[in-house]
Amino acid sequence: MKLFTIFGDPVSHSRSPLMHNNVFKKLGIDACYTRTRLENGSELRDVFFAKALSGANVTVPHKESAYEQCDEVRGIASMVKAVNTLVLENGRLIGYNTDADGFIRAIESFGEVRSALILGAGGTARALSVALRAKGIDVTVLNRSAARLEYFRNEGFAAYAWDEFSPASYGMLINTTSAGLSDDELPIPAGLLGELLARTQAAVDVIYGKETPFLREVKSCGLPYKDGSDMLLAQGVLANHLFLACRYTPEEIEPAMRQSFLY
Ligand SMILES: NC(=O)c1ccc[n+]([C@@H]2O[C@H](COP(=O)([O-])OP(=O)(O)OC[C@H]3O[C@@H](n4cnc5c(N)ncnc54)[C@H](OP(=O)(O)O)[C@@H]3O)[C@@H](O)[C@H]2O)c1
Repeated sequence: MKLFTIFGDPVSHSRSPLMHNNVFKKLGIDACYTRTRLENGSELRDVFFAKALSGANVTVPHKESAYEQCDEVRGIASMVKAVNTLVLENGRLIGYNTDADGFIRAIESFGEVRSALILGAGGTARALSVALRAKGIDVTVLNRSAARLEYFRNEGFAAYAWDEFSPASYGMLINTTSAGLSDDELPIPAGLLGELLARTQAAVDVIYGKETPFLREVKSCGLPYKDGSDMLLAQGVLANHLFLACRYTPEEIEPAMRQSFLY
């Protein structure tokens, strides 16, 4: 039996085991996907090999540390410098990032978007900024603290800490912070969020499975919005495609994975 897991902290909220196990069951694959809570991200590689895993997903806060521990990083992950999918290939740990393409698939239903403000500057913000720019969307990044902005500035993005930011108008406001994930916090101060929502056409929170304080504010303004469920499904389909060595197409995997959202 092939073993897969999701590494993160916290990880108890993750729907990934349900999603991937449903695909394995429907496609008749002898495999099992579990959760692994990992406090120290630098142990990720050792734990991967100790558990004899065939592949894994990586979530908060270990995506950047997973990137550092791969033998090879492929695709957009090498630009993003954050990995959410690990696959064992001939004894080597290969890293990918399926969050970026997953997000682009998820926002297709909004139609054309010209500009976006990303809240947060972690691994997900990196993935989304690179993917959105590749689609011709003008990206600005806003983060609580300045330390993580260097990557974005080096990549040529407009990037600000809260205390140096002046609000403008955006096609889409995207929360990639973990504010609201396991607390009841807004990703930016309430006054600033109110100003931004008055000048924004649509909003997305990448957190899924709960109504975050951010999404509550978005809904009260009557804006078109999405939580992170569609992104979760799309990034999961792409990860499963890699776990199964591309033997099944994303189109074959998606119905089985989507079904797990009904449970
Ligand atoms: N739907 C999906 O498929 C999907 C996929 C990927 C990720 N996600 C979600 O995306 C979120 C971020 O993941 P990540 O891997 O990018 O995390 P990360 O690398 O740990 O980055 C977290 C970011 O959130 C900011 N932050 C944390 N708490 C905050 C607070 N209370 N107020 C304001 N800012 C705060 C941090 O700011 P500082 O730099 O100031 O600390 C940092 O910029 C998580 O909630 C994760 O579950 C969802």
